[in-house]
Amino acid sequence: MGRIIAIANQKGGVGKSTTSINLSACLAEAGKKVLAIDMDPQGNMTSGLGVDKNEQEATVYDILIREKGINECILKEVIENLDVLPSNMELAGAEIELIGVDEKEYTLRNEVEKIKKNYDYIIIDCPPSLSILTVNAMTTADSILVPIQCEYYALEGLSQLVYTINLVKERLNPTLIMEGVVFTMYDARTNLSLQVVENVKSNLDQNIYKTIIPRNVRLAEAPSHGLPINLYDSKSSGAQSYRFLAEEVIRNCEGGDDE
Ligand SMILES: Nc1ncnc2c1ncn2[C@@H]1O[C@H](COP(=O)(O)OP(=O)(O)O)[C@@H](O)[C@H]1O
Ligand SMILES: [Mg+2]
Repeated sequence: MGRIIAIANQKGGVGKSTTSINLSACLAEAGKKVLAIDMDPQGNMTSGLGVDKNEQEATVYDILIREKGINECILKEVIENLDVLPSNMELAGAEIELIGVDEKEYTLRNEVEKIKKNYDYIIIDCPPSLSILTVNAMTTADSILVPIQCEYYALEGLSQLVYTINLVKERLNPTLIMEGVVFTMYDARTNLSLQVVENVKSNLDQNIYKTIIPRNVRLAEAPSHGLPINLYDSKSSGAQSYRFLAEEVIRNCEGGDDE
């Protein structure tokens, strides 16, 4: 009940927000009750789900800094079965403002604890850094899902990320697990994508999702329409692959076997 998955990788542009938006939407489409939490000041998940990030009375920032209750900040049913806890640039100041605050690593977790039971899945989009915002996501989460872009430098920085996850597990959240890695922006026309997948598989001792997200221009277009891919272009390869990923996540989390 109430599985909390943080989508993390300190590299920018690897598909964290795209995965957060579309995994959330496809889980909701599959009938799961979902909360999408945006922990990135850039607010890409917020706007990608059709929420105007600059017109919000209450955001994640208000929870972290102004001690607002989480219920006041959640936008209900932005899409059927999908609630959103938005963010915007204001969150960029939180890093500094949290200095010296007691239990600052657990602020988000203490609030999410109160509403966890209302959801089947809570998906947290992380910023491209290993900052206190990411730490808050990691103390709140049950597991971490790492998107890896199929490009030459894919493995670079991964050991740092795995080290950070282990540190958080040791010191702050003993039950945290690595959900696994998912390859994104796979380009079937190049050998490079295939090589990257093979290389990561043989060098990384982690669960790797069978679903591979292809490079698909519809995925890049959808955010400018404020729509997740399943609503923007339901038949696109991007939509199909995020549906498969959602099914795989559900299988991993809820057990069962439909193969
Ligand atoms: N599978 C994909 N196919 C095509 N473009 C993609 C795909 N995944 C992400 N993108 C695009 O790549 C850019 C970076 O993706 P994004 O999800 O914002 O990464 P991150 O959140 O890790 O910084 C965005 O412009 C996004 O639209
Ligand atoms: Mg992002």
